Amino acid sequence: MDNRPIGVFDSGIGGLTVVDALAKSLPNETIYYVGDTARVPYGNKSKSRIQQYASEITNWLNKKDCKIIIVACNTASALALKYLSSVFSVPIIGVIESGVKRGIRMNQNNKIAVLGTSATIRSNVYGEKIKAVKPETLVISKACPLFVPLAEEGWTEGKIPMQIAAHYLANIKQEGVDTVILGCTHYPLLKKTISKTLGEKVNLVDSGNAVVKNVILTLEKINGFSSRKNGKIKCYVTDGPSLFDDIASSFCLKKTEQAIQIEL
Ligand code: DGL
Repeated sequence: MDNRPIGVFDSGIGGLTVVDALAKSLPNETIYYVGDTARVPYGNKSKSRIQQYASEITNWLNKKDCKIIIVACNTASALALKYLSSVFSVPIIGVIESGVKRGIRMNQNNKIAVLGTSATIRSNVYGEKIKAVKPETLVISKACPLFVPLAEEGWTEGKIPMQIAAHYLANIKQEGVDTVILGCTHYPLLKKTISKTLGEKVNLVDSGNAVVKNVILTLEKINGFSSRKNGKIKCYVTDGPSLFDDIASSFCLKKTEQAIQIEL
């Protein structure tokens, strides 16, 4: 048994979609969440910058004695996960592997779309991983950068988000894919809008739900489950917490305490 916290981080609010899924499956775990709200978005930054930011946060969570760290950001998972694992000895889990596995499981017509930030799509990590398992798959990748500020603003439904989604998703709709991997942890916040645009029959794969199984397996391996009842969620942000708190409470059901501003 291990009562230390699980560390989770993202560039902003999006990783709370992962926290929400974790808290539902592992209610006894305490979670420390860092949202790098001062430096969001990561999706338009260079690899070296993303590695720098990700390692500063990992270092902070490591000093807080987290037993495992979840990179709840596809951009940092795509560009910094290997680097982080080579620098830190704490187990570090990214969100891409689990999303790929789930996407392939749900897919029936050999056409999978991947939505992500510009950096994630440019890295082609999803495309490579999908093709490695199922080479016959047609993978359509699309960067949807405006989804991130919409999610950070809490502006996820209505005319403007629908118009932006229609613009980004037109080609995917035309190709008739049956499975879309939401390869950015901010995008599940726009799930309703994406689903309305593509049609309800299209499967949407959400990193948060997909990664939970991997976290449980890792905790089993290191005998790391908490013996306490009712873990807490503590949120830390790198900029003023008020906007984060307003939006966070609307979708991460368990978050009750106010976020605390930190310096990395
Ligand atoms: N939520 C992040 C991701 O999963 C990053 C979004 C951003 O900062 O651009 O990729």
